Amino acid sequence: MNQLSSSKSGPLKGVISVPGDKSISHRSLIMGSLAIGESKITGLLEGEDVLGTAAAMRAMGADIYKGDDGVWHVHGVGIGGLREPDSPLDMGNSGTGVRLIMGLVATHPIKVTFTGDASLSSRPMKRVTVPLSRFGASFEGSDDGTLPIIVTGAKLPMPIKYELPVASAQVKSAVMLAGLNTPGRTTVTERIPTRDHSERIFDYFGVPISLEGDDIHVEGHAEITAKDMAVPADPSSTAFLVVAALITEGSDITIKNVGINPARTGLFATLIEMGGNITFENIGKECGEDVADLRVRYSKLAGISVPPERAPSMIDEYPVLCAAAASAEGETVMRGIEELRVKESDRIAVMVQGLKSCGIDVTEHEDGMTVRHSVANGTTPIVTHLDHRIAMSFLILGLCAESPIIVDDASVIETSFPGFGDLLNSVGANIC
Ligand code: S3P
Repeated sequence: MNQLSSSKSGPLKGVISVPGDKSISHRSLIMGSLAIGESKITGLLEGEDVLGTAAAMRAMGADIYKGDDGVWHVHGVGIGGLREPDSPLDMGNSGTGVRLIMGLVATHPIKVTFTGDASLSSRPMKRVTVPLSRFGASFEGSDDGTLPIIVTGAKLPMPIKYELPVASAQVKSAVMLAGLNTPGRTTVTERIPTRDHSERIFDYFGVPISLEGDDIHVEGHAEITAKDMAVPADPSSTAFLVVAALITEGSDITIKNVGINPARTGLFATLIEMGGNITFENIGKECGEDVADLRVRYSKLAGISVPPERAPSMIDEYPVLCAAAASAEGETVMRGIEELRVKESDRIAVMVQGLKSCGIDVTEHEDGMTVRHSVANGTTPIVTHLDHRIAMSFLILGLCAESPIIVDDASVIETSFPGFGDLLNSVGANIC
């Protein structure tokens, strides 16, 4: 356990960079590991989740290392070339890592055991094992479909057509990755759009992929060649800095080269509607992804009802939105977000409990929460339940609290945002 505390801070000022995008980092390592030749990756997120994916791909035959120049080098095995690892793959805290790699393994003739930490071992895996078994893979584990799970990949995989029953980019990507080593056309139908990093990176690496209405078609057994990647800064990590600046009086910060894929920017749209002064500068494109510098200035916010259909584009950002909502006039209503209950923790229950303990006026709903303008006061340490975004959200709330807010275990922040506290302190926050 590693407690951290945050307290009332002066204006936040400066120009900073946040670590690379987690979703794109996982996918860059995976695609590089499947390509023939050497792919070089700059800006890779070096958080525990992504390093876990690197270790898993290494254990299945890819050569992955960081050069002296800070660039990551990946030598792939070719589609269909993964080998059986010698020991179980421990995916730590990472839902993306385990679900995407299960997709890959499902269509290779290998047997792999997947394990994870206490948080990951309580998360639902049937959402991937159900479609993956239709390719011909089989799964052994507990009846409730949680880790540990032993996957036996199909020897002769059959392509599938699958309509996603839940809006999940992880499930979509698991099916798409399984389709890579399957002859013929695999189709995923997605009625509610979710982040499309897999679609973009498949296209970037030259996988034959086509989009037709709600259908995503992937042609299997393509030969893909190595590509260099520049991973943009993670908009979900940037979100903590953005909210910090909006709620801390006098702040004016710029965050460089942030990914602004429209499937990820729901929080920024919401904060702008709440009155947030956020501007996008130097808009451009890198390796198939949209990027911009974000300038954020302290703003007087007003609560809104967040449109439920916006949820997939800000699914990871509701915890930190709660910190903005507590500073905003009136109330902020967040509904249609029941998926939050199966993240690294039950983020609705854990946020509500923590907010109440800090004196925030909040109501829990089955599918969300309503937060009303309140002054935060830290009392007993917030229980973070091995959830990085819970830890970071409460540390942001502490920046304008009357008394410091302490989180019981900040070590889990390393999964997605190494250097979080130091980076915030470098612009004027009090986190120690
Ligand atoms: C992710 C998809 C989302 C998100 C997670 C990363 C991805 O999960 O919450 O942090 O990289 O595909 P779901 O697919 O479960 O919504």
